[in-house]
Amino acid sequence: MSEPVRIGLLGRGTVGGAFAGLLAERAGAIEAATGRRPELAGTLTRSEGEIGAILERSDLVVELIGGTDPARTYVLDALRAGRPVVTANKQLLAQHGDELFGVAREAGVQLRFEAAVAGVIPIVRTIQESFGVTEIDKVFGIVNGTTNFILTEMAASGAAYEQVLARAQELGYAEADPSDDVNGADAAAKMAILARLAFHTPVGLDQVPYEGIEGVTPDDLAYAKEFGLSLKLLGVAERRDGGISVRVFPCFLYDGHPLAPVGGPFNAVMVEAPAITEVTMSGPGAGGVETASAVLGDVVSILSGEAPVHETREQLPLVADVSSSFYLHLEVADEPGVLARIAQVLGEKEISVKSVVQRGAGADARLVMVVHECLESSFAAAVDEIGRLEEIRSTPRFIRVIEEEFV
Ligand SMILES: NC(=O)c1ccc[n+]([C@@H]2O[C@H](COP(=O)([O-])OP(=O)(O)OC[C@H]3O[C@@H](n4cnc5c(N)ncnc54)[C@H](OP(=O)(O)O)[C@@H]3O)[C@@H](O)[C@H]2O)c1
Repeated sequence: MSEPVRIGLLGRGTVGGAFAGLLAERAGAIEAATGRRPELAGTLTRSEGEIGAILERSDLVVELIGGTDPARTYVLDALRAGRPVVTANKQLLAQHGDELFGVAREAGVQLRFEAAVAGVIPIVRTIQESFGVTEIDKVFGIVNGTTNFILTEMAASGAAYEQVLARAQELGYAEADPSDDVNGADAAAKMAILARLAFHTPVGLDQVPYEGIEGVTPDDLAYAKEFGLSLKLLGVAERRDGGISVRVFPCFLYDGHPLAPVGGPFNAVMVEAPAITEVTMSGPGAGGVETASAVLGDVVSILSGEAPVHETREQLPLVADVSSSFYLHLEVADEPGVLARIAQVLGEKEISVKSVVQRGAGADARLVMVVHECLESSFAAAVDEIGRLEEIRSTPRFIRVIEEEFV
């Protein structure tokens, strides 16, 4: 009989607990597939275990504590001690990726992290292995299930953001403190990781600007329906003008876009490259068992001897001013010539209008339009100028739009 492989488990909460259960349940299948039977060598929580003793007894370490401290120290200790590490910790990788990948490389051991991005969707493996030598142009998608659930419910029910957030918390789709999910920070960490992999360049969390969904109103969603649009919180990492742009923002998509029907707490990621055209993968974005299953997949890959190479090739510049299409919502005075004045400001900035609807009368008059792709700086300048016109009754609201229509 071959030697068992001893696994040190750091953290035994939602994911760690599910991982321990799955490991016991699938031990026979793992032995059949890899030739080695896994067994838990020790568990570390706040009340149990000691890191030194666990590292001593382990062949491989699974980090499911979360956060950067003490997870960073423990993962570095494990790598330096020559133990391969599997983690689901996006914050750790997005903030300390350079250091961790560097130490893993020096130590000649694997650091795997499939569960850190987009839950059970095997996007890390796909980018690193299947598309390992493909020149990727763009990776983008819905990488936060909480916000996708909220936006889907708001669009379906017409209810306000706060009301739907409370329901998401009741159903367990949003945490008691949902800030990092709803403000886009969680998605930004995942996009920093995906951008690093896709473009082989260092990308830190502090280089990813993000916007959340807290300001989205039911009437934005109702107007958007008239244009055939649905709203998603998108993470986008793409090559632009010799550099890359990595961002998170709420964005309208036309019906027919592969991401438009992805609803509820699901995630979906698209990869675009000349050699593959485009690939879309979707699946549950979180959950104890689902995440643990992705962690276990990484453990099996390590035991099978598969070794993806994560190498950073060059430092690509981050491009700040990119172009986008926009939805613009204006509350206006119900007077002749208002639309013409707004169109003039847009025209002066070379921004053309794709579609427009006018609703209401008197104090309730609104102009809602979609403008074609333009530089974000030009659009911001135009909105600033429009906001100062005397016929405008409140601060203009705008949301990006992906114009591309798929058939
Ligand atoms: N939950 C999900 O659906 C999901 C999805 C994708 C990725 N993830 C990632 O998976 C990781 C784990 O998440 P989780 O939801 O399982 O978290 P969790 O339920 O809060 O569990 C955390 C575990 O870590 C232990 N821990 C916390 N601080 C510690 C410390 N200073 N020293 C030792 N142990 C400590 C806790 O110990 P006690 O038991 O003593 O409290 C607990 O066992 C995170 O990186 C998270 O981002 C989670």
